[in-house]
Amino acid sequence: MQYRKPLIFSVEISARYGPSLMPGGDPAAWPHLKNIFQSIAAKADGEPCCEWVGNAGSGHFVKMVHNGIEYGDMQLIAEAYHLLYKAVGLNHDQMAEVLQDWNKGELDSFLIEITANILKYRDENGEPIVPKIRDAAGQKGTGKWTCFAALDYGIPVTLIGEAVFARCLSALKDERVRAAKQLPRPTVSSDVVIQDKREFIKQISKALYASKIVSYAQGFMLLAEASKQFNWDLNFGAIALMWRGGCIIRSRFLGDIKRAFDSNKQLSNLLLDTFFTNAIAEAQDSWRVVVSSAVRLGIPVPALSSALAFYDGYSSEVVPANLLQAQRDYFGAHTYELLEKPGTWVHTNWTGHGGRVTSNTYNA
Ligand code: 3PG
Repeated sequence: MQYRKPLIFSVEISARYGPSLMPGGDPAAWPHLKNIFQSIAAKADGEPCCEWVGNAGSGHFVKMVHNGIEYGDMQLIAEAYHLLYKAVGLNHDQMAEVLQDWNKGELDSFLIEITANILKYRDENGEPIVPKIRDAAGQKGTGKWTCFAALDYGIPVTLIGEAVFARCLSALKDERVRAAKQLPRPTVSSDVVIQDKREFIKQISKALYASKIVSYAQGFMLLAEASKQFNWDLNFGAIALMWRGGCIIRSRFLGDIKRAFDSNKQLSNLLLDTFFTNAIAEAQDSWRVVVSSAVRLGIPVPALSSALAFYDGYSSEVVPANLLQAQRDYFGAHTYELLEKPGTWVHTNWTGHGGRVTSNTYNA
C-alpha cells in the first residue's frame, strides 16, 4: 500500500490513522521518542512516515517546504481544472472523471483524488458547488515562508513563488472584476487553438506531471541549500518517505523520488535522475503545447509556465545573464567576469566618461 487511500475524508480521520511526522532537535532525544513517534505515524509500504530529520530547526524547515510544495501542487491542479473547464469545455462531472482517470497513473495522489471528489460534489440544489465558491484564495503563510527562505538562500523556487502570488492575485477579486470589464482579452476561440480535445486532456496531464517534477526538484534544491547552511545533513530519501503517507502531498510520485535519492546519495538535482529525465523527455512536447495554448487563450497558467521557464533555464548552458552583467557594469560599475578568465573581475569604461572606480564590494 503506498498511502492510506480510504482516509481522505477529514483531517480528524487522517490524524487518527497516522500523520506524517518530521521531528528534528537534539539527537539525544531521538532514541527515547523513536518508537512512540514511529508507531503513531502513517505507514507507506509498511515503513513509518517518520524519521529523525536533523538538528534543531530542520524538522520545522522540512515541514515548511512540504507546505510550500503543497501550494505548488494545488495551484497546478487548479490550472489544469481551469484549462479543462474553460479551454476544453468539460462540465464538473466530466472533469471529475478525468481526474479519477489521472489518479490511476503517474499523477496518483491525495490531492488529485480529493479534487475529483470536490468537482463532483453537488449542493442542496443538486448543482456542482465549485463554481459557486468565491475565487479568492486564503493562505496561512507557510508557502510565503518557503519563498522567504528561497530568496534568502538564493534558490529559484519559482513554482511555489508563483503559487503564492496566484493566491494573492486571486484575493484581489473586486479589482479583477473591475479590470475584466475594461481590459482587452484574446479573441481567438478554443476551437481554433485546440484541434483535438481528447488529446489536449492527455497533454494537460503530461504538463501537470512535468511541472510537478520541477516543483519537487526546486523544493529539494531548497532543502539541500538549508542543509548545507545549517549542517543538517538531510537525508532526502527519508524525507520523501516521510511525505509518502499521512500528509497532504502524499502520492505515488514520492516513491519515485525516494528511489532516486536512495539509489544515488550524490544526486545533485532530481531532474538529473534518469527516471525523471526520461519522464520530462516524454512529457515536454505536451507541456509546451499546453502552455502555449493557454497563453493564446488568455488562461493564466503561472505555475505550469514558470515550471517550463525554469526547466528551459536550468537546461541551458547559456542564459542572457551576460547582458545583465554588462548592464550592471555600465550603470553601476559592478564589474563582470570574462568566460575565459573566471574569478577575474573587470570593469569597462563603457561611455568613455567613466573612470576605473568599481563597486563590487558585496553580492546579496
Ligand atoms: C494546511 O492545512 O496544510 C496548511 O495549514 C496550509 O493551509 P493554507 O493553505 O491556509 O496556508
